[in-house]
Formats: sequence, C-alpha cells, structure tokens
Amino acid sequence: MSARPIVIDTDPGIDDALAIMLAAASPEVDLRGLVAVAGNVGLPYTSGNAAALADLLRLDIPVGKGASGPLWRRDIDFTPDVHGEDGFAGHSLPVSTRSFEPGVPLLARLIEESADPITIVPIGPLTNIAMLVNEYPETARKVERFVIMGGGAFDVLGNVTPVAEFNIWFDPDAAARVFAFGVPITMVGLNATHQATVARKHLPRLFASGGPVAEIVGHLLAGYHNVGVDMEAAMPQHDSLAVAGVIDPDVFTTVPAFVDVENVGRLTSGMTLVDRACESGEPNCDVAVKVDVERFRDLLDSRLSALDASLRQD
Ligand code: RIB
Ligand code: CA
Repeated sequence: MSARPIVIDTDPGIDDALAIMLAAASPEVDLRGLVAVAGNVGLPYTSGNAAALADLLRLDIPVGKGASGPLWRRDIDFTPDVHGEDGFAGHSLPVSTRSFEPGVPLLARLIEESADPITIVPIGPLTNIAMLVNEYPETARKVERFVIMGGGAFDVLGNVTPVAEFNIWFDPDAAARVFAFGVPITMVGLNATHQATVARKHLPRLFASGGPVAEIVGHLLAGYHNVGVDMEAAMPQHDSLAVAGVIDPDVFTTVPAFVDVENVGRLTSGMTLVDRACESGEPNCDVAVKVDVERFRDLLDSRLSALDASLRQD
C-alpha cells in the first residue's frame, strides 16, 4: 500500500514536535511539508521550531510560514505556558538557515502538485486552513481529509475554558469556517487525547536508544515539569494522537457527527458543538472517541526509537 501523502500544519510546541517526529518515522505516511502557524507561541518561534525540527530529522521538505495570529481576534497575548517562551520549554535546537515559503500558498502548491489527494493534519489553530479555503477554494476541495487535533466532545470539552480547547479557542472564526467548508474531517479532540497520555516510562525503547531523538524528547517531556508537573507524570500527547490516527486507524475509534464551532459566545467561544444525532446538520465529521492507549504508546515508542537509531547511524 503506498504511503499516504500528508502535510502538517503546526504550532510547535512540545507535543507538535513529537507528532512531527512520529510522522517522519512512519512509512505509512509521506510527509510532504510543514506549515507553521501562531498558537502555542508566536510565529517567529513556531516557524523557527518547525524548520529546526526539519533539520534535525533531515527532512527534504518545504517549510511554510503562515498566519501570525487569528483571522479577526485581536486579544491574544502569548503568555508562556507549558511550552515556555520559545515553544520548546527552553530546549532550543540549532537555528535553521532554511528559507521559508509563504505558508498558505505552500499548502495550495502541495495540494495541486500531488498526484494523489493530500491529507492535511492541522495540529495548531486553524487560521492557515481557513485562509486556504477562503483564498483557494477549488484547490482546498481537492484535499482528501482534514485530520484535526482540536475541540472536545462528550465528557471532555475544554482546556482553556471549561468548554473550549486551545486550537479552536485561539481562532474560533477560522475553525467555524473549516468545519463548515465540506472537506471530510476527523476531529481528534480532548475527549480522545486525554486518554493518550505518555510518560518517559512508556517510551523504554526510545530512551534505551539514547540518540538525538531521545535527547530532545527527554528535554521536551521534562518541559512539563517546568510548570510543576511531576517528572514521571503521563501527559496527553494531543498532536501525536492525530498523526497516529493517520498512520494506524485502529489507534482510536470514531463516531459520525455534525460538528459546528461557537465563535460568538461570550462564555462559549471556541466550543465545538458535537451533534451525534445530526439533527442540526448532515454529518461532517468523524469524532475520535475511544483510544487504544497501549497501541498508541507502542507505536510512538517503536517509531521514535527506530528514528533515533537511524539518525544516530548517519
Ligand atoms: O489543546 C491542545 C493543543 O493546543 C495541542 O495542539 C497543543 O500543541 C496546543 O497547540
Ligand atoms: Ca499543537
């Protein structure tokens, strides 16, 4: 079976970094490009981190620089949190000398140039994706699927507010536009990612390997400790779960639903309204629900350790 072409739209970001490594290490997917967006930290850092990861992983792919902020919200400040001021919890990689392409035109170029329909995996705010569908609608309709880390459903709705998940909360207008556009969506929300927790002890093969991937993953996981999380705590690897679902569809189950995004609510802005009965609209989304966490952890450990060994050999 040929590798599935994917492009990752990302705001690296600790968990973004592990997701990008997982994609780079997995023959089931053909990573065609990275496009940075502002989110966890500002665009200078997210784009620099994406380029630095591409260098570390020796990826011969374009890196795009996308939106520096939400479509319309102007009240965002990049207060450092678990990702730190630089997005990698203070563990900076060597600065890349790569040149960037404009992010949204790069998305359009990669879609148009691909012989097979591309799956886009947004693991940050959806600003770039909304700009793609606004500025290149006919091209965007060629996308196979958006596999989105974002939102929440059923028992876990929010992590910024009680009902809003960060990627959707950051740019709810963009998210509303993307969910309404019509390209099939897999939504990997907090209700799923909170099952997909990982601690060092869950990556024994990687840390036995001891190479460059083990080093950075060790530092990044320790980043959670900088904000008071216990060193050995298992933390949700939100973005890696979305990528894992493309690599191995059995890593989680999904249910069809109509999903819309609240972008005007005083208290509920950024909420994903998940209508399983589809009374308010036709199904537009497959919502991840039950995670096979041991399968997920094994995939992450086996692929990252193999990647580590390959980079150590060169
Ligand atoms: O809510 C989790 C999401 O927000 C992840 O993509 C994480 O990287 C942050 O961007
Ligand atoms: Ca992210």
